[in-house]
Amino acid sequence: MEDYLECIFDLESTKGYACVSDVAEALRLNRASTSIMVKRLGKLGFLRYEPYRGFALTPEGSRVAEKIRKRHAMLADLFQLMGLDHRDHLSDIEGIEHHLSERAFRRFAELAAHLRSHPFHRPAGSNRPTPVT
Ligand code: FE2
Repeated sequence: MEDYLECIFDLESTKGYACVSDVAEALRLNRASTSIMVKRLGKLGFLRYEPYRGFALTPEGSRVAEKIRKRHAMLADLFQLMGLDHRDHLSDIEGIEHHLSERAFRRFAELAAHLRSHPFHRPAGSNRPTPVT
């Protein structure tokens, strides 16, 4: 469910609204299952329909989507700080972002801040970071 809200948030940011075919294409799902989930999200109060256009997030839908986007951005940052290209680890990030408790999220964010202020040194010819001593 959060994947859909995150995807719709991204589509809204670029197009101003989302439709079933855009969401299905972005998430690589078929239109039928996407349509079922969109109806469910509407019933749960996360989406409202935009006549002749598609649908958009309600304030509650935006709140959930922004929380996930924030987690995604922090995890992408943390992966980079650990010497892992966040683009190569997109599926890891997409998986982890939904399962972190608030407490774990805060600790991961603190770890990212620590690594930012204590950067790794990368020896020439190595793609493995080692802490600066
Ligand atoms: Fe994500």
